[in-house]
Amino acid sequence: MLELEVNGRVHRVDVDPETPLLWVIREHLRLTGTKFGCGIGLCGCCTVHLDGRPERSCQVSAGEAAGRRIVTIEGLAPDHPVKAAWMEEQVPQCGYCQPGQMMQAAGLLAANPNPSEAEIVAAMDGNLCRCGTYPRILRAVRRAAAKGGER
Ligand code: FES
Ligand code: FES
Repeated sequence: MLELEVNGRVHRVDVDPETPLLWVIREHLRLTGTKFGCGIGLCGCCTVHLDGRPERSCQVSAGEAAGRRIVTIEGLAPDHPVKAAWMEEQVPQCGYCQPGQMMQAAGLLAANPNPSEAEIVAAMDGNLCRCGTYPRILRAVRRAAAKGGER
């Protein structure tokens, strides 16, 4: 039995410690905002925060995540500047990649509240979007930063 702190709540889950965190989040905790894309760390769909930093949850085992502070898209405050900026810029198309994009952006702004364009591009580079919403993502991150995006 593992204890995982997710979105401020401690959950006891009966899983093999080698199970990817992504599976536990989606299948055991039913927090389905975090998406499965590639499963091999290459797309960013599954991005969550571990101790405040964005990580690919398909590449972290449940055992490694135990004892760390896990935040999923459901745990990002509804009035977080990133969520507001995503709405205002109408970023999503199909939407599939967007929870990961927002968690990546929120992690960037927590570490660097006023990033340059190049820093935004570098930080968001590993989050793929098949719909090509990249220009709107860039605008939304800039907008969130202008509104104190580190919250
Ligand atoms: S599903 Fe984790 S990086 Fe693609
Ligand atoms: S909005 Fe469709 S994959 Fe990004």
